[in-house]
Amino acid sequence: MKILIFGNGYIGNRCAEQWGDEAIVSDRIVVTKHDALDEIKKHQPDVVLNAAGIKGRPNVDWCENNQLITIQGNTIMPLLLAQACNEAGVYMLHMGSGCIFYGDSLHADKAWKEGDFGNPGAVYSRTKWSADLCLSTLDDVGIARIRMPIDWKPSEGNLINKLAGYKKVIDVENSVTIIDDMIDVFYQLLKKQAPGIFHVTNPGLMKHKDLISLYIKYVDADHSCEWITEEDLVSDGIAKKARSNNALSNTRLAQYGIKMRPVNEALLDTIKKYAEAKRTERN
Ligand SMILES: NC(=O)c1ccc[n+]([C@@H]2O[C@H](COP(=O)([O-])OP(=O)(O)OC[C@H]3O[C@@H](n4cnc5c(N)ncnc54)[C@H](OP(=O)(O)O)[C@@H]3O)[C@@H](O)[C@H]2O)c1
Repeated sequence: MKILIFGNGYIGNRCAEQWGDEAIVSDRIVVTKHDALDEIKKHQPDVVLNAAGIKGRPNVDWCENNQLITIQGNTIMPLLLAQACNEAGVYMLHMGSGCIFYGDSLHADKAWKEGDFGNPGAVYSRTKWSADLCLSTLDDVGIARIRMPIDWKPSEGNLINKLAGYKKVIDVENSVTIIDDMIDVFYQLLKKQAPGIFHVTNPGLMKHKDLISLYIKYVDADHSCEWITEEDLVSDGIAKKARSNNALSNTRLAQYGIKMRPVNEALLDTIKKYAEAKRTERN
């Protein structure tokens, strides 16, 4: 399978490393449909992964004052890419985000299902939801929503690095995505050219406190942080807007015969590999 990846960033490159000769990462910034079509014609892929987007630097608060750039990257660009893929007869898997859901759903288990409507607050989340709303009507597009990526490879996009780097941390419970599992699921969705929305999150929930406890046990015994409430995050000026916290159910993956490891098992495995990677980095 020849996979053309748009988005020369964290996740695009993590997937490409794993997929080797089967993947090409495009560094083309897509502004028009023709930019995307040029790349597709040049590389002749079987499938496309859209891992491009604007998530704000140093964090999503940046999007609050840069609305049009965020809309261009997260809403307009994916629609242009979908048009180009459709014209070229190529399936596209688009990366969505679970942060389009805020709080508990109205279902008995409080988890959000793939077909639920989003209730996004922040600009970043609204632009991601806008793309999902349109792209989910197309038969040749899949949407893979991830949440808070956790990776054995240290990097600024990795939730382990983020939480370990904060002096003050909120203790919330969330669905999360272990990157090794995500890369495998993306490959299977691309292979099956699966349409519709998928929640690519490991079964179960993770508390920030659980991750930090494992970090202290396996990576840095001297690590410490202050625990604060969600309300403190905004009132102390640490974040401009409240962050999305939620549980996602991923029932649609099972319909395609795709499984992810339970979060506790995958997290333990990942933190041990992360500790090993840190040791190698230091030596
Ligand atoms: N990482 C997460 O926590 C997370 C969670 C949920 C969903 N996602 C989604 O996953 C996708 C990939 O995230 P990531 O963490 O890999 O982000 P990333 O490291 O910022 O990579 C995204 C890449 O897309 C590029 N890009 C922006 N606009 C583009 C355009 N019009 N055409 C082509 N490339 C463009 C960016 O270039 P510049 O750097 O020049 O802007 C960057 O290289 C995004 O759609 C994001 O919303 C990420």
